[in-house]
Amino acid sequence: LQGGNQLRLRGRKGIREDIERQKDLVILNARDYKGKWQQVFGNDNPIYAELGMGKGRFISEMSKRYPDINFIGVDMYDELIRKSSEKAKLAHEMEADSEEGIPNLRLVLFNIEHIEEAFDQGELERIFLNFSDPWPKKKHARRRLTHRGFVEKYIHILNQQGEIHLKTDSQSLFEFSLNSFADMNLRMRNISLNLHADGIHPDHVMTEYEMKFAGQGMNIHRCEVVIGQQVQEAHEINLKKQQS
Ligand SMILES: C[S@@+](CC[C@H](N)C(=O)[O-])C[C@H]1O[C@@H](n2cnc3c(N)ncnc32)[C@H](O)[C@@H]1O
Repeated sequence: LQGGNQLRLRGRKGIREDIERQKDLVILNARDYKGKWQQVFGNDNPIYAELGMGKGRFISEMSKRYPDINFIGVDMYDELIRKSSEKAKLAHEMEADSEEGIPNLRLVLFNIEHIEEAFDQGELERIFLNFSDPWPKKKHARRRLTHRGFVEKYIHILNQQGEIHLKTDSQSLFEFSLNSFADMNLRMRNISLNLHADGIHPDHVMTEYEMKFAGQGMNIHRCEVVIGQQVQEAHEINLKKQQS
């Protein structure tokens, strides 16, 4: 290998070793925990997950602010898991090189496309989709995290109080998402086309992307989807029909 490549490889290996050491905070084998997330946290508090947490500002702050809720941040890149772990330790006032865990937070390396392999039916109470990649080309619509194919998986892994909270700067992703939810007869509430129109509310936890886009004066769109028992039951009946 040429010097540059060798360095890059060593760099990647270093990141992997770093996150592997953090056994109480980082989970690299999420499939093994399917159906066992309550045991992971050792309590039956609700579990909220951010799918595509990026550098982890939101999940770190939320876990600090709400100790009686369990948080899971999911992303598919080692480097982002490492960055998120640094941020989480900072938010929880821990030493940067600490290998100690945070009781109500786990950072999970996983591809959201297979999310139903990491979580069992009803294991989550809330899913946050913050500034998900908009995939603007029509031929990539299926990759959008609010495409029906994904939302069906979310309905399955959410419990009967389940909600999906979406924030995005992308008008096209927002339109697509509202249509996707509406086509599935899901109830939406607190829809906003300009979340920070009256300034940033002190209780509102910003993500990295949100800080950047709101700082540039862009409008942030937000909506909540309420799943509920009826939707869930209809969904499970449909699922069984498809399987038989
Ligand atoms: C645009 S960033 C937003 C990050 C963060 N939520 C924020 O608001 O600052 C989208 C994130 O989703 C992650 N992501 C996209 N598709 C994913 C997938 N299929 N599985 C896991 N993570 C994914 C990306 O790696 C990236 O970190």
